Amino acid sequence: MAPPIPGRSARPQWWSRAVFYQVYPRSFADSNGDGVGDLDGITERLDHLSDLGVQALWLNPVMVSPMADHGYDVSDPRDIDPLFGDLAALDRLLAAAHARGIRVTMDLVPNHVSSAHPWFVAALADPTHRDRFIFRDGGGPDGSEPPNNWVSIFGGPAWTRVPDGQWYLHLFDAAQPDLNWEHPEVFDDIEKTLRFWLDRGVDGFRIDVAHGMAKPATLPDMDLTENELLRNKADDPRFDNDAVHDIHRFIRTVLDDYPDAVTVGEIWVHGNEQFAKYLRPDELHLGFNFHLVQTDYDAAGIRAAIDNSLDAAALAGAAPTWTLSNHDVPREVSRYGNGAAGLRRARAMALVKLALPGTVFIYNGAELGLPNVELPDDVLQDPVWERSGRAERGRDGCRVPLPWSGSAPPFGFSSTPDTWLPIPADWKALTVEAQRDDPDSTLTLYRRAIALRTGRAEFAGDTVEWLGDSTFRRPGGLVCAFNAGAVPVTLPAGEVLLTSGPLKDGLLPPDTAAWLVSA
Ligand code: NOJ
Repeated sequence: MAPPIPGRSARPQWWSRAVFYQVYPRSFADSNGDGVGDLDGITERLDHLSDLGVQALWLNPVMVSPMADHGYDVSDPRDIDPLFGDLAALDRLLAAAHARGIRVTMDLVPNHVSSAHPWFVAALADPTHRDRFIFRDGGGPDGSEPPNNWVSIFGGPAWTRVPDGQWYLHLFDAAQPDLNWEHPEVFDDIEKTLRFWLDRGVDGFRIDVAHGMAKPATLPDMDLTENELLRNKADDPRFDNDAVHDIHRFIRTVLDDYPDAVTVGEIWVHGNEQFAKYLRPDELHLGFNFHLVQTDYDAAGIRAAIDNSLDAAALAGAAPTWTLSNHDVPREVSRYGNGAAGLRRARAMALVKLALPGTVFIYNGAELGLPNVELPDDVLQDPVWERSGRAERGRDGCRVPLPWSGSAPPFGFSSTPDTWLPIPADWKALTVEAQRDDPDSTLTLYRRAIALRTGRAEFAGDTVEWLGDSTFRRPGGLVCAFNAGAVPVTLPAGEVLLTSGPLKDGLLPPDTAAWLVSA
């Protein structure tokens, strides 16, 4: 078992100001040359994360899985998939990360399992074993219509018919049957899973689809107008049902036996009141807030997103969380317009995000300024591509392996050029090696910013005071100004600590942010 982090219990709520780094394990570093990243690859590259200065990792799922949705289809929740290593490899990672003072959190997937999970295999074989899932008879005279009109978040119907004529619910892929959270064994099993990893030394969980799990008893039809893939609207009966809070309260009772472990929920709900419910003192510790991810590089929009996220967290008395990207959304460089302007804006937003109070998440590769990648059809793997009838390309473009060194693919990611997704040949200037000692690189900017945020007293305080639409001040004295306009602007008074790009005649150019402290 991994050794405890020194001073663990003496520093409760370490997460409320932490910088987390999200590792997409398939794409971080490949230690065994199969073209897919793995746990030993992460362990070997921990120096990069120590240099960056992050305090915690969130690993996307590494449990046993047929990988229909790259690990979000779990067939054994208490073991590591051989693609990523084994339990000993996880122990090595935990020990090495903890020795550096870096905590490690994992992804927990409670809404659904894999269709290869023994429970589902048993349910298919024998209709009397179906009550841990949501099986129903179909509609229409011969039962050939799905039980209701729900669609999958990935496209297509949310129901699949089995050979004996019944249908089962899957809000995601057909290989991800939804669990029935009214069944006591589902609760027992999640408790076993939580304790299994926490006892091994894991420091907490990101909880997948934390707004899912509970379904309304009558399974009423949903409103299909303006339905978007990978999104849910307000009043969508598939999500955010009240009974979900009993599930979070149950999970919290287990977590409370491990007082230094954290839960952070993926919460896609509408309205701050709904969001705050998940963060009540007996539910989740943190909730992902996606307002910034959904906002363009626009001063009023950014300010509104920040205020909204602060208000939501304050309603619950929880720390706010900030993220600009993850494995489900296009990378920020591309969202902000790609090319030089997209990169400048992404760098400016990195300073905005790291200036805010609360918990910050950095998606692997953001610190290198990676753009999204336009991949050819024949390499796409996200189930969204096929389920949408090839209308949506899916999320592979933000999941391309990281470039570490050298001048050609696989850029030190792997020993084979045959990586699970191809790495663009023109990423030479984006490698860690190319950026490490360059004072102007995005990697250097991130490293400096995290060091300042972690070390300087000016970042103290939980609030933000706006000094205009694109300048805010923290109670400790830090001022962050960003320019989302078209012309250079005057900087606020104070000593400049850091800028995301060069100043122009002492002015803050467009697409640039600065940190200052009052003289
Ligand atoms: C949200 C995860 O972030 C996403 O990658 C996954 O496909 C779905 N939940 C289903 O588990």
